[in-house]
Amino acid sequence: MVSVLVLNGPNLNLLGTRQPEVYGDTTLTGIESACASHGAGLGLSVVCAQSNHEGALIEAIHAARGQHAGIVLNAGAFTHTSVALMDAIASVGLPVVEVHLSNIHAREPFRHRSYVAPVALGQICGFGARGYLLALDALAAHLSGDGGI
Ligand code: DQA
Repeated sequence: MVSVLVLNGPNLNLLGTRQPEVYGDTTLTGIESACASHGAGLGLSVVCAQSNHEGALIEAIHAARGQHAGIVLNAGAFTHTSVALMDAIASVGLPVVEVHLSNIHAREPFRHRSYVAPVALGQICGFGARGYLLALDALAAHLSGDGGI
């Protein structure tokens, strides 16, 4: 089975209790198990990881090369600050689908800028936990070379 990495950044380990009015009440464990079963239906083996540390996320992106066919990435607040994450994604050349639970474009201006977006296949935001499943759909379609509907 084709393997993909679902990688979550800082504070996303607190999902379920963290500002549920913004991020919903699904826990990260709940998201990860939904990703695993949705991925299996798409023929994808899903490996999940989370870190609160920028360097660890960069290492995970580096290590994905040769291990995974693509990445679903919610980089949390590092989305808006990290040139290093952008460079890591560009360096490994793996397809990355950027996900955010909230609609970052409808929030504070500092969240409108994403350093991930320029090196991502695309961005899914504002659909809550379902966004991860939509991202897996998009990644599976990309990996199978299916550009149509
Ligand atoms: C987030 C949006 C970011 O702005 C924020 O810093 C997060 C979560 C989201 O999933 O909506 O930590 O990436």
